[in-house]
Amino acid sequence: MPVTVVVGAQFGDEAKGKISDYLASGFRHVVRTGGGPNAGHSIHLGERSVVLHQLSCGALHPGVSAISGPGMVINPMSLEKELAELAAKGWLKGDVILSERAHVILPLHELEDGWEEALRTANPGDPGLGTTRRGIGPAYEDRYGRFGLRMVDLTRPEALRTKLDLLFRRKSFLKDLPDPQALFGQLSEVGQRLAPMIRATEPILWGAIESGEPILLEGAQSALLDVDFGTYPYVTSSHPTSAGALVGSGIPPAELDEVIGVSKAYSTRVGAGPFPTEVQGELGEYLRREGGERGATTGRPRRCGWLDLVLLRYAARLNGFTSLAITKVDVLGGLEEVPVCTQYLASSGETLRRYPPSVAEELEKVTPIYEKFPAWPGFTERLKERLRREGARALPGPLRAFLHYVAAETHVPVEWVSFGAQRDDTVWLGRGAVAPRAPTVTEWTG
Ligand code: IMO
Ligand code: MG
Repeated sequence: MPVTVVVGAQFGDEAKGKISDYLASGFRHVVRTGGGPNAGHSIHLGERSVVLHQLSCGALHPGVSAISGPGMVINPMSLEKELAELAAKGWLKGDVILSERAHVILPLHELEDGWEEALRTANPGDPGLGTTRRGIGPAYEDRYGRFGLRMVDLTRPEALRTKLDLLFRRKSFLKDLPDPQALFGQLSEVGQRLAPMIRATEPILWGAIESGEPILLEGAQSALLDVDFGTYPYVTSSHPTSAGALVGSGIPPAELDEVIGVSKAYSTRVGAGPFPTEVQGELGEYLRREGGERGATTGRPRRCGWLDLVLLRYAARLNGFTSLAITKVDVLGGLEEVPVCTQYLASSGETLRRYPPSVAEELEKVTPIYEKFPAWPGFTERLKERLRREGARALPGPLRAFLHYVAAETHVPVEWVSFGAQRDDTVWLGRGAVAPRAPTVTEWTG
């Protein structure tokens, strides 16, 4: 219990925010460990909703600290807006803390993000990456190039001036750079306002571990967007895996107890990149409409498709999932059948079950092989009411069979099922609902 991580098992937008928020009241600290305003975590409370980008959902819970951790890249200007929006709604209840080691996204990083994307799309037909244009890639480039500004620098005017000056010289190739003097003024002001929240967060978390206070690491982005293990180069610039959550928080690996993987009952992807189970046409449109599949950060329509067990098995292994939360099962309710991709047929004629090709162009070319499940009924208000009242007992039989199948195929027990956007649209199936069997060596390699 002390340290639990929630990570996305697909291409992002699996409702990690909803699951984290559902679990948050049982934790003392909720930490975002990577990424920045590219994340969009929608939280619905009754008729009202909010999209969290740079704050963890701990911000919504009294007595919980909401830490934006060291692994993040933070846009301080948009963070202030996020804080103001939450406060205006009366939802800012947690104790917001910003890591002094998190890096700063500047307007010039957003500019550079657009410029890099223009380079990538210069050849006709090249889709680029379809980034969120929030400056994520360039901010991480500067972080690893050791030109970055950190949150702590916003509170040290002298250092800020020197570092900003170096960064502007580094970026002299960019056109339309903002006026450095004006930016310095803006950053020092924002730094003064945020200073009370900017702290060393590792000692807080280590202290929490010592005294047995539970910590939730709220993932953003997802396994298949990991800069190394995702569908490179169609990825983000951080490590949205369980290992990344540890590096991004300063928590040592041996302290990690649980890894909850969040997956939709189908799949979506925003931006470019391989998506073997993508469905075009009417069915794709149906999933998009029923699932409200529009980017919470950019408003772009999400590409939709079926559940991909090859990728889910891979994500489970990579992250070491100890349990799964399967979300948006209501969206598939009432369909004629539910297709699930169980393996790929590669262009070489080989079948692939648990390790996708690491070359994006090859993943693009695989043929997904589907198994079709009998569908479950539509999620009427009556069924939802029963599920809220009776819990797992009220799950329709075909849905239960589907969940058992997913658990058996991934060797990870399904512990939560989410059937709507609200906190209480969540059913707990119990621990180890399906006893998983680990794959043998030959199953992994063959
Ligand atoms: P949450 O936390 C879905 C995608 C972008 C693009 C690629 C790189 O809400 O699940 P970036 O701006 O990070 O350089 O873009 O990654 N992407 C996401 N897709 N959900 C997210 O976050 C995402 N964050 C980045 O669409 O394809
Ligand atoms: Mg999202």
